[in-house]
Amino acid sequence: MTFEEAKSLLEEKNQLQVLTYYEELSSDEKESLLKQVGELDWKLLDKITNGQESKKDVVEKEIAPLPALNLDAIKDRESEYRAAGLEALSEGKCAAVLLAGGMGTRLGFDGPKGTLPIGEERELYLFEQLVENLKVVVSQAGRSIPFYIMTSEKNDASTRTFFEEHNYFGYSREDVHFFIQEMAAAVDYKGKLLMEEKGRLATSPNGNGGWFSSLAKAGLLEDLHKRGVEWINIFGVDNPLQKMCDPVFLGATILSGCQSGSKVVRKNDPHEKMGVVCRENGQPSVIEYYELSEEMANAKDSNGILTYGFGVILNYLFRVDRLEEIMGNDLPVHIVEKKIPYIDENGCLIKPEKENGYKFETLVVDMVRLMDDTVPFEVVREEEFAPIKNLHGVDSLDSSRELMKKAGIRL
Ligand code: UTP
Repeated sequence: MTFEEAKSLLEEKNQLQVLTYYEELSSDEKESLLKQVGELDWKLLDKITNGQESKKDVVEKEIAPLPALNLDAIKDRESEYRAAGLEALSEGKCAAVLLAGGMGTRLGFDGPKGTLPIGEERELYLFEQLVENLKVVVSQAGRSIPFYIMTSEKNDASTRTFFEEHNYFGYSREDVHFFIQEMAAAVDYKGKLLMEEKGRLATSPNGNGGWFSSLAKAGLLEDLHKRGVEWINIFGVDNPLQKMCDPVFLGATILSGCQSGSKVVRKNDPHEKMGVVCRENGQPSVIEYYELSEEMANAKDSNGILTYGFGVILNYLFRVDRLEEIMGNDLPVHIVEKKIPYIDENGCLIKPEKENGYKFETLVVDMVRLMDDTVPFEVVREEEFAPIKNLHGVDSLDSSRELMKKAGIRL
């Protein structure tokens, strides 16, 4: 894109602030900024109308319950499920995908979230604990599990270096692959594009929803096929109690004949801020806690269990062939408030203390709706769910450490 083209486009879109420092830039910087402008996704940016998503995007939803495979039901068939899961794992049919492309802005830790030291009296990192959890299954299955790690352009190099420096925490190097997710521009509350440098638009990772197409773009589908992988277990970086490639979960999902499985826990109370599994217009789905009416949030079944009481913990199984079928499908775009570092009108870099704008994200949770079915698979909360979103308080390093200690992890 030439300067003239960029200028007229940005003028039309009321975004001329992007070129404020253009004349000060080197020719390389000019070229890279024009390239960034040329690649902007205006469909996304136009979604901001006075800071809110256009009402047109809100479609009517018919919500119905989707009962979970609960702990008792799992216990009844546990050995059968475990055997089926271990068989699939021993045949190399399941891979693990770790979502580690997020910015972890709430934690405020300088570095990829997985490099966070979580030990108290010994050296232990979040990535390390996740690898340890996966190694438990590797030893049960008797063979290594392909392990793919999604990073973003902001943390890819530091993540790779960290794994190298720690010798992959003893995981077989040839089974670990990194791939980079895409970025999206970020805007202030008025929808104005922010700059992170005089010659660079502020960009953020575009959410965890694009993981499969990013994996494919990185050429890793071939690797999956070559290895005969049929299932992918996808999980987030911030839960050190995460049990990935769990044989019982895998076996239950395979034997159900479903295309996907979703690990769930019982909500602590009807209004807990978690996405809950349900049916939406007939499809399996996860809806946000605020989408439930008061009546639905409190509804109970004949056993007194909350009808919409099972929350997702970012641990899903998806069949690879189904993921390939839906790869081109659009996921809804979420507009999320974030702290976005930016260059102010005086050319100074500001690192905001509180949220100052929006970024655009697609989310893996929305993939559940693209599956014909899912097994909501209940797990014991205290044993598998200790998210680290913040440093202190709810879902924090503090609360997670308490839960890790209770679960027998030496810190
Ligand atoms: P979060 O929703 O907690 O987002 O990610 P975040 O960016 O890590 O943290 P905050 O909101 O800025 O504090 C849930 C999981 O999805 C991954 C994260 O790394 C985490 O494992 N993720 C998130 C990505 O891989 N890419 C993204 O663009 C966003």
